[in-house]
Amino acid sequence: MIRFFPSPQLLLAIALASGLVSVSCKTPATTGRGKAANAAATGKRNEAGLAAPSWNQPGQGGLPTSVGTRESYSKISTNLPFIALTFDDGPHPVNTPRLLDMLRERNVKATFYVVGTNARAYPEILRRIITEGHEIGSHTITHGNITKMSDNQIREEMRGGIEIITSATGVPPRTFRPPYGAITSAQKSWIRAEFGTPSILWSVDPEDWKKPGSSVVASRLVAGAAPGGILLVHDIHAPSIDAMPSALDQLLAKGFQFITVTQLIAMEGKG
Ligand code: NI
Repeated sequence: MIRFFPSPQLLLAIALASGLVSVSCKTPATTGRGKAANAAATGKRNEAGLAAPSWNQPGQGGLPTSVGTRESYSKISTNLPFIALTFDDGPHPVNTPRLLDMLRERNVKATFYVVGTNARAYPEILRRIITEGHEIGSHTITHGNITKMSDNQIREEMRGGIEIITSATGVPPRTFRPPYGAITSAQKSWIRAEFGTPSILWSVDPEDWKKPGSSVVASRLVAGAAPGGILLVHDIHAPSIDAMPSALDQLLAKGFQFITVTQLIAMEGKG
């Protein structure tokens, strides 16, 4: 099947304009979006007189970000070809920098759900992730199954994960991924209320941790990707990193744009 997507630049401009000047999602602003985009890039007031957006941080590419209102997300609803690539369980001293090189070559932005013990060991990798425009979310400290923990144990995991990431980078994590995707609906609810973090699951799982081979991982990612999707990969496994050049290049060729999880949530209902 051949898919037709408008040019990525047009889609970015439309998405940006719809986030800035609150228009109906069915009728994205078609006039003055250059000015709106420029205002986002420079931090000046846009033509609608809105204040400079607080999300316009260096490295965020000028796109809006949001943690939304839902307790958890496994994908978001949009017809625009945006997807979020997420990497779990790192950082890894060899594989994560190798991955970051691949992402940088393609100007692809991703989200890293780091485990506290690894984050504490490699704070410089966390800083590189942020400097290069990616996002970091918490994946707890010990990578235990939180459905088997008491609420107070979970609080320690959450607070510790946030603290390690924030002290390394200066940027607090805004989203959370439960290890193994294991979380009860009650836990999603109180974690959201107490920490403000939605629990981020996924829509595409290539089961790369079972090491099915790099070409299988790449083809599962490509086959599973759809607008608004959240893709799960583990950056601690070398074969998963080996799969990325092919996966990224195929997805880019199909017209997909890679954005961070909070940028993806901000796209909900647009397009
Ligand atoms: Ni994990």
